[in-house]
Amino acid sequence: MDDLNIRPLAADEEAPMALLLLADPSRKAVESYLRRGRCYVGERAGRVIAVYVLIDTRPHTVELVNVAVAEAEQGRGIGKRMVLHAVETARSLGYRSLEVGTGNSSLNQLALYQKCGFRIVGVDPDFFTRNYPEPIYENGILCRDMIRLRLDL
Ligand SMILES: CC(C)(COP(=O)(O)OP(=O)(O)OC[C@H]1O[C@@H](n2cnc3c(N)ncnc32)[C@H](O)[C@@H]1OP(=O)(O)O)[C@@H](O)C(=O)NCCC(=O)NCCS
Repeated sequence: MDDLNIRPLAADEEAPMALLLLADPSRKAVESYLRRGRCYVGERAGRVIAVYVLIDTRPHTVELVNVAVAEAEQGRGIGKRMVLHAVETARSLGYRSLEVGTGNSSLNQLALYQKCGFRIVGVDPDFFTRNYPEPIYENGILCRDMIRLRLDL
């Protein structure tokens, strides 16, 4: 795993859409994030196996979206390395806080972000039921609300 290289996506390089869609089933949302944000990829042996995107939201604040690890590589610490890389990137770009949002049913993601130092700062009730046409279930729970987390840099 030590040969994982995390780097910005090159200007002439295609974004890893299949990976990005693991984190958000809406292609429209993903395409909008890519237009507005900076995409970083985790690559091993020339293969992109992980991704995240940072988008500007409010002054001094950047949001982490679309963190994803290829299914066959999940559960081995790569997600944590991508999130910690995003924290360092946001800090080195001079932002003061990094935000992330996830579903009320995304228990592993809630664990991951909190282990990386994020704290829960709010809830956007019914965000998913309002914005996604199909119901999303994870861990036997209907994904309805967006849990907002923040890390002060
Ligand atoms: C969420 C995701 C990025 C995590 O990446 P990962 O490489 O699997 O995660 P890691 O191995 O780094 O695990 C980090 C923490 O997440 C949690 N976690 C990850 N996989 C888990 C699993 N199968 N069961 C329980 N907890 C798990 C654990 O708390 C773990 O911490 P630990 O190492 O201290 O036990 C990855 O599973 C993924 O791409 N999922 C689909 C896309 C997605 O949901 N993105 C997030 C949108 S908000």
